[in-house]
This record gives sequence, C-alpha cells and structure tokens, in this order.
Amino acid sequence: MKRRDVLSFADFSADAVNALLAESLWRKKHPLTEEFAGRFLALIFEKPSLRTRVSFEVAIHEMGGGCVVLRPDEIQMGKREATKDVARYLSRNVSIAALRVFAQETLEEFAAHATIPVINALSDTEHPCQALADLLTILEHRKKLAGLHLVYMGDGNNVCHSLLYAAALTGMHMTVICPRGYEPEAAVVRSAQTLAKPRRAAIAISTNPADVKGADAIYTDVWASMGQESEAAARRKIFAPYQVNAKRLAAAPEALVLHCLPAHRGEEITDDVVESPQSVVFDQAENRRHAQKAVLRYACGLPPIRKR
Ligand code: CP
Ligand code: NVA
Repeated sequence: MKRRDVLSFADFSADAVNALLAESLWRKKHPLTEEFAGRFLALIFEKPSLRTRVSFEVAIHEMGGGCVVLRPDEIQMGKREATKDVARYLSRNVSIAALRVFAQETLEEFAAHATIPVINALSDTEHPCQALADLLTILEHRKKLAGLHLVYMGDGNNVCHSLLYAAALTGMHMTVICPRGYEPEAAVVRSAQTLAKPRRAAIAISTNPADVKGADAIYTDVWASMGQESEAAARRKIFAPYQVNAKRLAAAPEALVLHCLPAHRGEEITDDVVESPQSVVFDQAENRRHAQKAVLRYACGLPPIRKR
C-alpha cells in the first residue's frame, strides 16, 4: 500500500475529496471499525490543541488502533533533536504521524525522512483536515457543494488557504473578505483559481465587508493565529470592520455560519452569532473526527469505503 501524505489540501484530487466526503458520511453512521488494529498514530504538537487532539485520538481508537501524543515540551523537535531523526525514529515504531507545526517546512522535512504517512494537523500555512470537515458540514446542511457561495471573512491565514483549495476542488465559489495587507498568499489564490477553472468556480478577494451579501455560508477564524499573539492588539483594531455579527448576518439571512474554533467571542464573531440557529460550529467541530478517519485510511494508501 502506497503512502499518501496530506501536507496541503491541494494534495487531494477532486475525486479523492468526493470519496473522502462519502466515506466520512458513512463513518458517521458506523463509528466503530477494526481496520487499524495493531496500528499506532503519533500525534505531534508544537502548538496547543483541543479539537485536533481529541478528534484524532478518539478516531484512531474507534478504528481499532492506538495513539501516542507528543506535546511540544516533550520532544522539542529541531531543538532537543533534529526533525529528521524524530521522523526516522517514529517511522520504526508507529504506522502513521500527524503533526501540528509552525513552519510548513518542518512538515516537509519530517515527511522527506519518514517512511510512514504524514498528515498536516495544522501549520502556519494550512489546515487541510479542518477544511475537509468544513466541506462535510456544508454538504450535510445544504446537500450539495458545487455552485454554493462561501464567504470567508477575516485573516487570510492557514484555515483560509486550505478552504480556498477545498472550494476550488468542489466547485464552490469563494470570496475572501479581508483588510488590505491580510490577504491569503497570492500563490495560493492563483493555484486555487487554476484548480477552480474546470468547475467554473469563482475565487475572489475583496476588502468590502458588504460583499457578504447573499452568501450561502459565512466562515471566520481568529484574527491572530497561534504564534501571532504579539500582534493581537494591533489586529483587533485593523480587523474590527470584519467582525461577523448580526448586521452581516442580516445581509445573508440563509447563510450557514462556520468557525473552526476556538472562537474569540466579541472579536471575529459575536456571541449571538455563535449561538444563532444559523451557526453550525459544533457540527463542524464534531465532523473533524469523522473526516479524519477517512483521511487516516487515505494516507495509508487504502481504498476509500464507498458504502452508503
Ligand atoms: N479547529 C482546531 O483545529 O481546533 P484545535 O486548535 O483546538 O485543535
Ligand atoms: N488560524 C488559527 C486556527 C486554529 C485552529 C490558528 O492557526 O491559530
């Protein structure tokens, strides 16, 4: 079985995304399987986590396998020990690794020296597992993806990058609304536009919060990501017009509201919006576990489960 690393959402083909979503829906109805019996997952964290740790750890157990969680202070990858040595050691002891890191290059270096599949559990550049759960959530609530209009309001960050690829590969139109200077990386936008072309999906960038009008889904994330804490105060001022609040929701009364969590209520999203009937943030968070099961199987080179 050929290993398939998931370092970027763009590592998936459009067909793979469809198969992963179909399998995730099946897994939601069939939570207990045994195909990972005897296999261990190493979960490596350079940054904090609630959902990623719980969803991966429970997922692998529900699939019959086991998990080793390595916190930042424990292995100090790149400091106590070279990243490539950690990759080689773990490859001899576990079957698969998922890493939450600062630099995408750390993931790439780890993957280059590992002989086991490697999954990005969030980097400064991407959060592919999150984007798959996001697609699953929109699909469950709207019964389709292609042709819907997803608006992402806020920082053009890791979550936004993976979502751009996710929209492009499923034919959703996506508009990123952000302050000037906080756009997603130009190279990511260009790649997403290229991927979106065969599906005639429009990928656009705007600085105007009023462009949220008529959206089918509104997504936001924290204004200062992990590692940007020193910029938080300055960003609160810059991003203030980009808050997802009752006024913005009034312009898109049918829209689902998504947030990867953790949410900073009163900053990027108001408390009433998180609690509103339009909000699907806890479905989204639960879907991490179901979607990641499909990702674990995919990464190990196993064919997707196609049952309904
Ligand atoms: N959304 C997400 O990845 O949450 P955690 O940072 O808690 O893992
Ligand atoms: N953009 C956020 C996502 C957290 C899940 C961060 O990187 O901190």
